[in-house]
Amino acid sequence: MKKLFFIANWKANKNTQEMYSWFISFFSQSFIEYIHAEENTHDKKIIICPPFPILSDASEYLSRYKAKIPVSLGAQTIASIDSGAYTGEVTGHMLEGLVRYVLIGHSERRQLGETDAEIEKKVEQARAHNIEPILCVQSIHTPIPAGTHIVAYEPVESIGTGSPDTPEHANEVAEYFKEEKNILYVLYGGSVSKSNVHNFIKMEYLNGVLVGGASLDPDTFSDIVRKA
Ligand code: PGA
Repeated sequence: MKKLFFIANWKANKNTQEMYSWFISFFSQSFIEYIHAEENTHDKKIIICPPFPILSDASEYLSRYKAKIPVSLGAQTIASIDSGAYTGEVTGHMLEGLVRYVLIGHSERRQLGETDAEIEKKVEQARAHNIEPILCVQSIHTPIPAGTHIVAYEPVESIGTGSPDTPEHANEVAEYFKEEKNILYVLYGGSVSKSNVHNFIKMEYLNGVLVGGASLDPDTFSDIVRKA
């Protein structure tokens, strides 16, 4: 059975109330039944990445329904340092136990100055705190730090533009990472929608999608999971 990841990257959107509304719509009875029915045929893993301030409310909400809702939380980034006088940073120590995953090296953060050296340290910090890093890469030339098992291929020109890469090219990139870099799972991200998701998911080497804009609406994101 092919493992498929569906990651909702909310970026700098939503406060606690908006998150609860999203959860209530997304985890409808019919969706929960659908996910449980699917378990026998597809291994679909849903990961939601809210902004930092609402992570603990998200975690508490989800743990209340743990048996019913098969979903994990992820952070959108992590500090490259362990602790200390670094105003504003959110460390692996703080995130440990709260999230199972963390996005590292998103192009929007690289554009703000995040370097490959910092990204390598972030992967180390995630690993040291039992958090699985999901490394965002922009091309086959993006360096892959040791300890990376999951990669999300996100070409910059496809993010938020409505112009996704072709599934065939994304598949070639995924094949490269799996064959040449020993990556276990490769996802695609960049203008994923309910109408194109299946074309990516059906590709041999792709294991899911990282969704930005289309994950903000619970009905659209649930359609993406169903139509994959
Ligand atoms: P998008 O963003 O789905 O809005 O293109 C994807 C991402 O940045 O992870």
